[in-house]
Amino acid sequence: MNVATTIQQVREQVRAWKKAGLTVGLVPTMGYLHEGHASLIKTSVSRCDRTVVSVFVNPTQFGPNEDLESYPRDFDRDSALCESLNADLVFHPEVSEMYAEDAATYVEILSDMPKQLCGKTRPIHFRGVCTVVAKLFNIVQPDRAFFGEKDAQQLAVIRRMVRDMSYGIEIVGCPIVREPDGLAKSSRNTYLNAEERKAALCLSRAVGLGKRMVLDGERDARCVVNAMTNLIMQEPLAKIDYVQAVDGVTMEPTDDIYQDVLVAMAVYIGKTRLIDNFSVRL
Ligand code: PAF
Repeated sequence: MNVATTIQQVREQVRAWKKAGLTVGLVPTMGYLHEGHASLIKTSVSRCDRTVVSVFVNPTQFGPNEDLESYPRDFDRDSALCESLNADLVFHPEVSEMYAEDAATYVEILSDMPKQLCGKTRPIHFRGVCTVVAKLFNIVQPDRAFFGEKDAQQLAVIRRMVRDMSYGIEIVGCPIVREPDGLAKSSRNTYLNAEERKAALCLSRAVGLGKRMVLDGERDARCVVNAMTNLIMQEPLAKIDYVQAVDGVTMEPTDDIYQDVLVAMAVYIGKTRLIDNFSVRL
């Protein structure tokens, strides 16, 4: 497995693969890889001839008071994991390789979609995500790109960007991977102390409750959201950012439960902001 730190190295490698008629999968990550990322890499390896994993903590998607500086990093561990999973290339650029000092061009969806859910408290987040993912698409020119369903709004935003910008790339969403006790895998779980780690289970319990209500026939999204909210509020260490039901494609709030509605939440456990969700399958 090769490690590339420059855009040119990636372009040369991908050009050689394409010349040989090989398909290329891209797994964009910010590193500190866990089993959730591993499942994306495995899916790409199984569906594409070659797999590129990008490891880049993207500064443009962090707000001024967010955790850019403290975001966990361990590139040696990440590259060993990529190698063990048969990835072919890891792209690990410096910030200066990705953004010129006077870079002033962004990719931004100008509908309400990136303003819903996480966008309410993270106003520049999805502009940063779209910009870096568009750049990665331009650099790697993959046939397919793989994203986790835990970041459901990110996945919807990227699908929209791909449609609007006519990228000929298949976007593959991969299921949430959970710890044995239910907590969704996240690089930010490392911020939790033992007490917070226990408290964080209120998110997956709320997901379980919401799913059961829908399975039992509840079709009023407000009842589902209220029940989930009440469950989370019983946890003293939890502070709700949002629990909301939205259309799975547009991210517009909905009061009804129907196929593919997304029920999503962001909850602070102490200082750590965690997200979780489920999509309605009827
Ligand atoms: O999901 C992430 O880790 C990031 O938002 C992504 C897609 C790699 C863009 O920086």
